[in-house]
Amino acid sequence: MERIAYINGEFVPESRARVSIFDRGFLFADAVYEVTAVIGGRLVDFPAHARRLARSLGELSIDPPADAPDLLSIHRSLIERNGVEEGSVYMQMSRGAADRSFLYPHASESTVIAFTQEKKIVAHPAVARGARVITADDLRWQRRDIKTVQLLYSSMARTRAAESGCDDAWLTEDGVVTEATSSNAFIVTGGRIATHPLDRKILPGITRSVVIDLANDGGLKVEERAFTIEEAIAAEEAFMTSSTTIVLPVVRIDGVAVGDGAPRPVALELRRRYLERLSDG
Ligand code: PDD
Repeated sequence: MERIAYINGEFVPESRARVSIFDRGFLFADAVYEVTAVIGGRLVDFPAHARRLARSLGELSIDPPADAPDLLSIHRSLIERNGVEEGSVYMQMSRGAADRSFLYPHASESTVIAFTQEKKIVAHPAVARGARVITADDLRWQRRDIKTVQLLYSSMARTRAAESGCDDAWLTEDGVVTEATSSNAFIVTGGRIATHPLDRKILPGITRSVVIDLANDGGLKVEERAFTIEEAIAAEEAFMTSSTTIVLPVVRIDGVAVGDGAPRPVALELRRRYLERLSDG
């Protein structure tokens, strides 16, 4: 059975969802996206994803199509049509198709696509054993606060991690950990949680912000500050957050055990509270 995908106002079997060879998302990575988790058949934190998508579009002066159905109904319809219980909805908006030119075209209609993926989120396989990460220089562009589809370096780093038997790469710039390839990075030292501050060097993760609130509500101290890779290796705990992994404990960095090398209490407790929050809502 083919999945049903969304493209420019229509729901079609995925093999019939086609975009132009001139689409600027394809030629220039001139497109932004969101990945929203689905747990128990319901979208998680959709309004925050919709706000971030609007901000990404604004930063790049991409006009969303005037007659697009409302985004929430597209997401809900895809979940229903594909019977998704757990996984995610991917939505992408590009500047649209225009003859190849470095200049933004004057009149192009945004291409909007969306599809679902089924994935284990609650019982994510890396939670119980903890994730192992390598480090890699952060060679991405300098506007990582915009969620663009320019993901080639992240894809290279993630592939290199997998080739060395690891789950992900933590990216570093001048010795400082910015984030992981598709998650935000956290450490716990001296009982305090630290994560890179919001600026152009990282994506403002939705899960990051929920986890910071959960930590503060639970009386844990959170510092939004830069931390080095040496600090991370010497930390009591390390973990990373994203919509599709929630809170993932990190147990090894470049082969060195973090803490006792097993998933640690702060990360596991934040994960538990995050899931509890969903069942409360
Ligand atoms: N990635 N940092 C980067 C570079 C990301 O790509 C992501 C998300 C995050 C976490 O953001 P959030 O908590 O809002 O999911 C941080 C998604 C999941 C992806 O590209 O598949």
